[in-house]
Amino acid sequence: MSKSYWKTPPRWWNWRTKAAHTGYDPFLSMGAVRPPIFACSTFATENADKLEHMFKRAYGLESPLAPDEEWPIYTRVSNPNFLMLDDRLQFFERGSENARTVYFPSGLSAIFTTVLSECNAGDVLVFGYPVYGGTDHMFRHLIPAKLGVNVIPVNATRVDEVEKVLKENAGKVKIVFIETPANPNLAMVDMEAVADLTHRLTQGIMVVDNTFMSPILQHPFEHGADIIVYSGTKSIGGHSDLISGFVIDRNVERAARINSFRVITGPTPSAFDAWLLFRSLDTLELRVMKAQENAKKVATFLSKHPKVKRVVFPELLDKKSEQWKIYKKQCDGPGSMITFDPVGGKTESYTVLDNLKVFTLAVSLGGVESLAENPWYHTHSDVTDEDKLKSGFSPETIRLSVGLEDADNLCADLDEALKRI
Ligand SMILES: Cc1ncc(COP(=O)(O)O)c(C=O)c1O
Repeated sequence: MSKSYWKTPPRWWNWRTKAAHTGYDPFLSMGAVRPPIFACSTFATENADKLEHMFKRAYGLESPLAPDEEWPIYTRVSNPNFLMLDDRLQFFERGSENARTVYFPSGLSAIFTTVLSECNAGDVLVFGYPVYGGTDHMFRHLIPAKLGVNVIPVNATRVDEVEKVLKENAGKVKIVFIETPANPNLAMVDMEAVADLTHRLTQGIMVVDNTFMSPILQHPFEHGADIIVYSGTKSIGGHSDLISGFVIDRNVERAARINSFRVITGPTPSAFDAWLLFRSLDTLELRVMKAQENAKKVATFLSKHPKVKRVVFPELLDKKSEQWKIYKKQCDGPGSMITFDPVGGKTESYTVLDNLKVFTLAVSLGGVESLAENPWYHTHSDVTDEDKLKSGFSPETIRLSVGLEDADNLCADLDEALKRI
């Protein structure tokens, strides 16, 4: 067998059909309609010359191959389940025709390896706050202290602030990192504007964390992103049963470089998790759309509740605001994350959380089950109070990830818990 697990799609197939069929050819597995799990550390190669070239590519010494020519040699480098997954995920990402996906054992590992690959000591990384609490900690503490990279936080919803920082550091900026909508305040960053400034004023690249919207609802390559990162743990995995991450890079050579940093520093996902993710992609669009439909009902319900001071949900943005314009420009829908403030403070917020029966008190998002947490004291507890206030959330703020349960039951659950205040 000299072919990889790749089935070239006919030209007339659209992305949905491609996403349902490509990356796996049943006739290379005795007709099995679902792929096997390659629980295997090492792989046989047809001849020594081919093995030599595969190693050169793993170390970034030779240009990467087309997906249908890839051959795994060792699971830390690659594995058939990783290749199938990477190929298929790419069909969900508009504008990724010439891109390459790198699969990671977590979202943070994807972000860290990208920084490790692209930044040297003395370079500048600019990031728009707020971002996920773990990313914030990595950027503010670990990367400056351990890699000597200067990290500058900026309010990326203020294009003038981004411009000022990029102008001041023009020659040194390597990465401009944004999360939009941001975690947890759902602030929209104008990707086109930030990409334009990044490319015009610096030699750097714009990296977008697209975890909240998923590849179904937002397409950062169409708005100037160079790299998209995901916590695959969230909607892509979708069943709260694994941790994973992805880098999708428009530049194949840079993707190969990031992959070789992953290979050589060692974070290796499991073949089983790749298999689960491949399965999850089959229902990604259906899950994201259903969760969004539920979230619209829940957000509307909360916005009318007497025990709720404030609801943040893209569909509820002021139609005259700049944020609304950005939302309409770059998102295909509001998604399934809601942030709201019950009346009162921390005590009232905890009363709600402790009395929910359908929502589970847990962090994470994008799963079948609806989740609730308090970002101030939970996911973002490491961020300073000043930065949290600047990012528009308070001690009482509750973040919801709306799942696939019945929307009326979800509203009734919130109503019961809010009545306990
Ligand atoms: C927006 C966002 N990016 C990245 C991460 C980190 O992903 P992981 O937990 O898979 O490392 C998270 C985790 O919650 C997240 O919400």
